[in-house]
Amino acid sequence: MSDKQEKYHEYDGIIEHDNPLPTWWLATFFITIIFAFIYYIHYEMGGGGKTLTEELNVAMQEIDKTKASATSAAPMETEESLQAAFAKDGVVALGAEQYTAKCASCHGPELGGLIGPDLVDKYWIHGKGTRMDIVKVIREGVAEKGMPPWGPVMKKEEIYAVAAFILSKKGTQPAGAKGPQGEPIEDYLTK
Ligand code: HEC
Repeated sequence: MSDKQEKYHEYDGIIEHDNPLPTWWLATFFITIIFAFIYYIHYEMGGGGKTLTEELNVAMQEIDKTKASATSAAPMETEESLQAAFAKDGVVALGAEQYTAKCASCHGPELGGLIGPDLVDKYWIHGKGTRMDIVKVIREGVAEKGMPPWGPVMKKEEIYAVAAFILSKKGTQPAGAKGPQGEPIEDYLTK
């Protein structure tokens, strides 16, 4: 047999070569074998690999935790807790700053109303002008009527402050006030 005959066989006129496999192919092949070993040890022999179900459970726990902390972080507000928060030193002054920066363009420099309603008269569209009502409408806004939700933009203290500022101006008579909008709350100005 000549040297040439060892490199290929011929059967029924079909030539079968015996060339070496390309190096890149062999390398990939061996890597997959090594990977299979590592995979098996990691996932099947108690190496700490997590199954999809375990991963899901962990993720769900995280979500539940986040939800729980979000609820506990939500302010437990009452009329009394707001009254105390509004009465702190410097709150009304901070509220005045916030008002000028964020609210005056729509509610007027003296709170008499422009695009938005008068905030110092006894007429309220949303709620009855309680501290809770005012904080709620500032936080949530009235998107379809053009009152932006300030909850995502302002800190809790800033919202409290601006509400405290509005209440501190209760009953004032701004020049060029817009006039009544909403329901009259008869005891609002005297409360
Ligand atoms: C882009 C204009 C705009 C800005 C800025 C704006 N508001 Fe308003 N606001 C409105 C409009 C319009 C309404 C009336 C919503 C309705 O008709 O339901 C409103 C309603 C309100 C009400 C309820 C009034 C009522 O009679 O029930 C309060 C309180 C209020 N705004 C406070 C604020 C405060 C505080 C700020 C600043 C942090 C602010 N607004 C900034 C447009 C604005």
